[in-house]
Amino acid sequence: MAELSPVLKQATPVLAARGEGVYLYDEQDRRYLDFTAGIGVTSTGHCHPRVVEAAQRQVGTLIHGQYTTVMHRPLLQLTERLGEVLPEGLDRLFYVNSGSEAVEAAVRLARQATGRQNIVAFQGGFHGRTMGAAALTSSGTKVRAGIGPLMPGVVFTPFPEPYRQHCSQAEAVRWALAEFDHLLVTLSSPRDTAAIIVEPVLGEGGYIPAPPEFLRGLRERADQHGILLIVDEVQTGVGRTGRFWGHDHAAIRPDILITAKGLASGFPLSAIAAGEDLMATAWPGSQGGTYGGNAVAAAAAIATLDVVRDEKLVDNAAEQGARLQEGLRKVAAEHPVIGDVRGLGLMIGNEFTTPDGLPDTATATRAHQAAAERGLLLLTCGPHGNVVRMIPPLIVTAEQVDDAVARWAEALAAIA
Ligand SMILES: Cc1ncc(COP(=O)(O)O)c(C=O)c1O
Repeated sequence: MAELSPVLKQATPVLAARGEGVYLYDEQDRRYLDFTAGIGVTSTGHCHPRVVEAAQRQVGTLIHGQYTTVMHRPLLQLTERLGEVLPEGLDRLFYVNSGSEAVEAAVRLARQATGRQNIVAFQGGFHGRTMGAAALTSSGTKVRAGIGPLMPGVVFTPFPEPYRQHCSQAEAVRWALAEFDHLLVTLSSPRDTAAIIVEPVLGEGGYIPAPPEFLRGLRERADQHGILLIVDEVQTGVGRTGRFWGHDHAAIRPDILITAKGLASGFPLSAIAAGEDLMATAWPGSQGGTYGGNAVAAAAAIATLDVVRDEKLVDNAAEQGARLQEGLRKVAAEHPVIGDVRGLGLMIGNEFTTPDGLPDTATATRAHQAAAERGLLLLTCGPHGNVVRMIPPLIVTAEQVDDAVARWAEALAAIA
């Protein structure tokens, strides 16, 4: 009898039978408050009726209109719709299926456009698991260990992490930018540096928002040296942080933007966006793929964008995110084992720390499990797995936020 590979590990013991809005149900019809959203994917909730309707209609019309063979209307319409929400000038789009593929598409484009090889990535960053994306990833050795050699031409520099670095945000930014400047004179000359890739909120690395002045500092340096700024919005995009794009908090304009996850409410779809001139530098035939820009995924993405707009989900993410963060801070005040609560919008991390200031993975794991036992599904992140993160769908209500905070408080009380 065949079995799933043991390499697949589940964060919770739930066998999900169906999903509806913020809830998942198991085969015994037990209901769980899903504050994982499939790792930030089900932006409109599970099976939003408008997404279901759009996908079902498309399944009966055209499933696979392979985009290097023919073009199909859903992809053209989606491109138009994304044009309404993308930063000005980033109006040329290319589609693939996953975040990792889109990251690699962005690297290909940056290298071809500049004729330079090096990509600057940040310590703690996560950009995916395919070999090129893994080479850019340093959120944990599990993604890199035992599979090298990885793609060459990647250099790492620190990300500002005030909590871990024991300093103020301003000091962390000053230091990280100084280290970046140091890198350009020691390791990767600007003439060899194609791009900087950065997450607006360090995701798998521990839910650490990039301070706006840090992103602005990177933008200035990119402009000064003709380096492209790639913003990886795979997890932060489509309203997750309470603005449509995570980098909107810093009011900067990236050269290349990567989006996936929340874009299609659960269908595999990702995209990179860049300006016309930049996208025109891609070498013909260098990008593509069998399944990229799938018609059903594109139809679901159009419906997702419609729901995000019509139900004002970006504003809801800001409002409910503030409520959730306030509730979590109150809980943390009762439990000194939670050393830091931080995040942007509906992307919030609770970092567990021992009394002597070390990562407390054991307690984070117990809290995460105790929450699942109380019907609240969560995930962990951070290099030590000691950050319990909350990423509910953007449709979450105030009552559901309060319910989650109450269950979280009960879970922590139970393990105290
Ligand atoms: C910021 C970021 N980039 C890239 C990826 C990789 O996406 P995928 O798992 O779809 O390949 C992820 C996935 O978590 C992510 O959070």
